[in-house]
Amino acid sequence: MSYPYQIKTLEQYHQAYKESIEQPEKFWADVASSFQWKKKWHNVLDWNFKEPDVKWFEGGKLNITENCLDRHIDELGDKPAIIWEPNDPEEHHRVLTYKNLLFKVKQFANVLKNNGVKKGDRVCIYMGMIPELPIAVLACARIGAIHSVIFGGFSSQSIADRLHDAQAEYIITCDGAYRGAKDIPLKSVIDDALIACRFVKRVIVCTRTRVPVSMIKGRDVWWEDEIKKVETQGNPDCPAEEMDAEDMLFILYTSGSTGKPKGVVHTIGGYMVWSAYTFVNIFQYQPGQIHFCTADIGWITGHSYIVYGPLLAGATSLMFEGVPTWPDAGRFWDIVDKHSVNILYTAPTAIRSLMSFGLEYVNSKNLSSLSVLGTVGEPINEEAWQWYYKHVGKERCPIVDTWWQTETGGVMISNMANITPQKPTFATLPVPGVNPCLVDENGTEIHGNEVSGNLCIKTPWPGILRTTYGDHERCRLNYFSAYNNMYFTGDGCLRDVNGNYRITGRVDDVLNVSGHRIGTAEVENAINMHSGVVESAVVGFPHDVKGQGIYAYVISEGHHEDAELTRLDIIQTVSRIIGPIAKPDKIQFVSGLPKTRSGKIMRRILRKIAEGETSNLGDTSTLLDPGVVEEIKSGAL
Ligand code: WTA
Repeated sequence: MSYPYQIKTLEQYHQAYKESIEQPEKFWADVASSFQWKKKWHNVLDWNFKEPDVKWFEGGKLNITENCLDRHIDELGDKPAIIWEPNDPEEHHRVLTYKNLLFKVKQFANVLKNNGVKKGDRVCIYMGMIPELPIAVLACARIGAIHSVIFGGFSSQSIADRLHDAQAEYIITCDGAYRGAKDIPLKSVIDDALIACRFVKRVIVCTRTRVPVSMIKGRDVWWEDEIKKVETQGNPDCPAEEMDAEDMLFILYTSGSTGKPKGVVHTIGGYMVWSAYTFVNIFQYQPGQIHFCTADIGWITGHSYIVYGPLLAGATSLMFEGVPTWPDAGRFWDIVDKHSVNILYTAPTAIRSLMSFGLEYVNSKNLSSLSVLGTVGEPINEEAWQWYYKHVGKERCPIVDTWWQTETGGVMISNMANITPQKPTFATLPVPGVNPCLVDENGTEIHGNEVSGNLCIKTPWPGILRTTYGDHERCRLNYFSAYNNMYFTGDGCLRDVNGNYRITGRVDDVLNVSGHRIGTAEVENAINMHSGVVESAVVGFPHDVKGQGIYAYVISEGHHEDAELTRLDIIQTVSRIIGPIAKPDKIQFVSGLPKTRSGKIMRRILRKIAEGETSNLGDTSTLLDPGVVEEIKSGAL
């Protein structure tokens, strides 16, 4: 496997960057031509950010799974595509070669067909991190069905909302999932969701924990039984459906500053080119290397850098079922040692959590196979960066600090391992094709260096989201209306004297808790559903491990028995409505919230108090009732 588009020197980076901005169509046509198309595109790029309307490789026909799998069989058929490491280190790991994986994808694609799934249908996937998860994802892509993977930490209610929004009639799930010491009853969570989703026609259940599950006649079927049926049918082939470059590949729900999560839509051609291009260049992947991305496939990082990016590059992708701290805080290092991992891609929150357990775990393992480290999901603090560099990478391995979003499909701003310089806490330079700019509140571009502002992108890259499912206007309002003719990221950013970018965090009402995006409005809605709650306001506060914690100010009608129990009840309600990942860390009961005369909550003040700042709260003269601030300050947790 060779990558004609792999950048090999700093000079080549600058040259590629220049060309990608000056002649994007030529640049991306060149990159795209190293993939397998059933029919070539007639137009490389068509776009306007007003609508927005972006089309890459229009007229091109392809199937992404042929590019991930079939294309590699001659050269890499017996090489590992996926190495799966189970939750429990005592259990055997599994290796799927490219041949095995293709066979299983075709087989399961036939299962989907047997169960009535057709091109364009939406299939919800709610599974633990077992090899059947990427198999299910790729089987959908094989037949042109649109997958929507939901992270295992979301509740029945969240699943039901997403099923409704996507009108998904098919679900693929597991009986349960292992995560550290816990067993998560996935099927039973799905069963609760389905009480409100009568339109779901079929649930395919894969066995993992073999806990008792209810199986409803006519609706629920076992994965293994369906595979047996396909085997007795005797035809193991499943031709790849011919798809348009701009057909939808997947929907992935993500939180914004308002309302319910939105279904970010990615389309096949552009996403394919972008996930592969960024994978090969950022990590400087070399054939034969083992790439270990610790994300869950329920998030965009898992989509792009466990499944699609690595497989498109014919790489070996290691996926891990468990958590970094079970059975002990050396689990990641065990895996690196056991499988001789070359590239490790994880999140600052995991690094900070492992740091707190001391050096014994990391120093007792052989990490000499590592050559590149990566981080994603939130700004990395200097201390965590240094620890990662020194104790994991032994000062030998570059760290790529990759800034990107669900909406961008792949990495946008990052250094490239051993090619462009790293700078601790800086994502550094844009990837070729990415045209970032900083703007002030009025939308005026801020030129020059040593400046800061809101981060926007001026022109489309192949991996840009195309719409939000079922509601294009929401996509326009969210991303393309704040500033004229630009994509707005929602992040604040500064540019140093050398043009390096440093992302400083969200400037909208979105929290980043352990690298997970959670909208404050979403958490408030969930809290307000608790019977005793009158009103609430949610802000983030700095948290040593999670990056940000969730701080809720709650006006309650009175407590049922006592305040502590009410707190726990509220937490339970949030867990039910959104999922355990959105549980507030702190709940402060207040008698009022600081509001302007027009009724708007002054979050700035609440944020400061949550951060422990009580003296310098800024202008409070516009408040309806300034007295409430004193009360909140004195009760701060
Ligand atoms: C934040 C995850 C600083 C940022 C791939 C962004 C980062 C949000 C970084 C997207 C980074 C992600 N440095 N901040 N390297 N990477 N972020 O959609 O605020 O889950 O807007 O995508 O995470 O989160 P999402």
